[in-house]
Amino acid sequence: MKVPAPGLPARVRIHEVGARDGLQNEKETVPTEVKAEFIRRLAVAGLTTIEATSFVHPKWVPQLADAEQLFPLLGDIADVGDVALPVLVPNERGLDRALALGARSIAVFGSATETFAARNLNRTVDASLAMFEPVVARAKAAKVQVRGYLSMCFGDPWEGAVPVAQVVRVAKALMDLGCDELSLGDTIGVATPGHVTALLTALNEAGVPTPSIGVHFHDTYGQALSNTLAALQHGVSTVDASAGGLGGCPYARSATGNLATEDLVWMLDGLGIETGVDLAELTATSVWLAGHLGRPSPSRTVRALTPPSSSASHKE
Ligand code: HMG
Ligand code: MG
Repeated sequence: MKVPAPGLPARVRIHEVGARDGLQNEKETVPTEVKAEFIRRLAVAGLTTIEATSFVHPKWVPQLADAEQLFPLLGDIADVGDVALPVLVPNERGLDRALALGARSIAVFGSATETFAARNLNRTVDASLAMFEPVVARAKAAKVQVRGYLSMCFGDPWEGAVPVAQVVRVAKALMDLGCDELSLGDTIGVATPGHVTALLTALNEAGVPTPSIGVHFHDTYGQALSNTLAALQHGVSTVDASAGGLGGCPYARSATGNLATEDLVWMLDGLGIETGVDLAELTATSVWLAGHLGRPSPSRTVRALTPPSSSASHKE
């Protein structure tokens, strides 16, 4: 049943990260053809921004080492609708690889903390910003859309709570490089709604407008939907989520699942907020992928909507 609540956006764009953030974290490497079919099915389900893969060093993320083979298989996704297929790019080498295959949307990924910058990018925070600078400049010159991820915006497994001012400094620096959009990552899922509102308010005060901000919550402590609602109440209308709740981050201890797209769509449908996503089609896709992964989806909504007898997701 749809029961709208006041003060929320009429429409939310879901930035689907399952194929990248989800699959980068799987122990088993999923075959390239299965990844391509997964992405195609996500597009059929109505998702319009589907992060496809990463052009990072294959030793760092072996699960996505097939980026060169996968990306060309996605040409037919355009037939499904107007779908963007962003890819992660840490440096100019990654950008060269992405541009060579015709990528039109990229994401750089920074960290609000020094420890995660060192573990994820082998650099300090400022050295990573310097690494991104030519990437963003060249992408913008090529009219490629650029997202700037910022990890550890609320807490860090090695450094503890992360001060809002520290996050704002790096977020502002990413936007000053020319990123079109910022995604605030709660990489280890420790945020609570008041903290979300405080960070968004501080970013606005620093000159980062709400329409350019997306949120990327993890559900480690069961707070992802509460945090999403706080962000929606602040006016945010771009929300990252991962089909079936796949994934975490290979370089962040205790980064468990991303917010499941199905759980998000259930809440947004109930609030009467448009997403364009067909929940039944999406759920069927996550159940299908769970069959390939050999374990059930952690999404509450996927489980609630799937009869146990017909579900590959209940195979353990
Ligand atoms: P490095 O070792 O410092 O790299 O790694 P380097 O620049 O010193 O180069 C070393 C070698 O790597 C060279 O090869 C380069 O050519 C090669 P050699 O000359 O020795 O033969 N190289 C590359 N090869 C292929 N593609 C490239 C590339 N770059 C260099 N792009 C680097 C630095 C950034 C490359 C490395 O740290 C890396 O790949 N990190 C990626 C880590 C990652 O993908 N993490 C997961 C994504 S972040 C995340 O999930 C969080 C997020 O979801 C939000 C949230 O939840 O918070 C976004
Ligand atoms: Mg994530």
